[in-house]
Amino acid sequence: MISYLASSRRSQEIKEILADLEALKTHTEYSQAARVNISFFKAIRSPVSFLWWLIFKAPALRRNRSLITEIGDLPLPKWQRAGLDMLSGFEAMVPGMLRLVKEKVLSQIIELQSHTTRPIVMLSLGCGGMELERQVIYELIRQRSRVASIFVGVDYSPTVPEIVTDRFKPLLSKGLLQMETTTEVDLDHLNRLKVADGPQQFRIIILNTDAFELECLPENFFDCAYHTRLAHHLTAEEHRALNRLALHLAPRLIEFDDLFSIRNLVLASFFAWRFPAGFGGVIFSYLRDHSRRELLSRPADGAKIEVAYTKPIWCYLKEYQKEPLLRADPG
Ligand SMILES: C[S@@+](CC[C@H](N)C(=O)[O-])C[C@H]1O[C@@H](n2cnc3c(N)ncnc32)[C@H](O)[C@@H]1O
Repeated sequence: MISYLASSRRSQEIKEILADLEALKTHTEYSQAARVNISFFKAIRSPVSFLWWLIFKAPALRRNRSLITEIGDLPLPKWQRAGLDMLSGFEAMVPGMLRLVKEKVLSQIIELQSHTTRPIVMLSLGCGGMELERQVIYELIRQRSRVASIFVGVDYSPTVPEIVTDRFKPLLSKGLLQMETTTEVDLDHLNRLKVADGPQQFRIIILNTDAFELECLPENFFDCAYHTRLAHHLTAEEHRALNRLALHLAPRLIEFDDLFSIRNLVLASFFAWRFPAGFGGVIFSYLRDHSRRELLSRPADGAKIEVAYTKPIWCYLKEYQKEPLLRADPG
């Protein structure tokens, strides 16, 4: 009975997605992406047709990765939300999905905290549901950290403020966290938020805007910048521009993403099958991801690269440092 209900909910969701994609076919900017997605969502109506798609269609898409646009990158907020909810849910349930980057972000915060008493200001580009920050904050609480930490999450999806507020409800209701959303990159306002002394040790500022809007902020406005599972959404040119911007905004940048591997594809097919919108996102993401060989054969642009198998997936972490991380304390 339960499996019948789950499967009829799944079929219904695919029907709704297909109707929304059909409507996008007439949109000049998204027409091509809509067609690619329609072929995928029709295929996942049954395991056999999905297998057929995987064997005969996916390899051609991987060779022309620029043709792949995830459903989450189309102007369909309902499916953006479904995809981000699923991603955050998996990241919360499967520790290996974030372990590598969580350890790195935590070690940055702890290192910075040992040299200052002012709040540490972290910048998360394409922050999505902020599951990484949720786990980092819980770990800082567990370690009885005393220094204030501010996480500025930037994301242009209109669904992000609601998703993040939902995920942080327990911390908000315990009075451990202060949260604010803004759509304007206003230097004076951000400066005030950075120094404001509230009773809460942790603060989240959601900047609901395109990451490139931050170009107007001064150099080293943040202590450390990072992005997770964002790189594969960008073209090579956008990726380079975003990393340049991040290294203008902070002395250090951490980049984290998955790697293409058949193992990742198979696991995703197995676990995400029940959630069509999220499933589309995850399969298209893996098809866009670099393989290990591609990653290591490209210029590192001064980054230290770590490739890791953190059960159950292959992922990588790049660390860029513009200048020594520790800066003199202002005042
Ligand atoms: C796959 S999600 C990753 C979310 C989160 N970082 C994580 O690891 O769970 C990528 C996010 O980047 C956002 N995004 C993509 N391009 C962006 C841009 N130019 N500016 C702001 N956000 C962007 C999307 O809206 C999406 O929420």
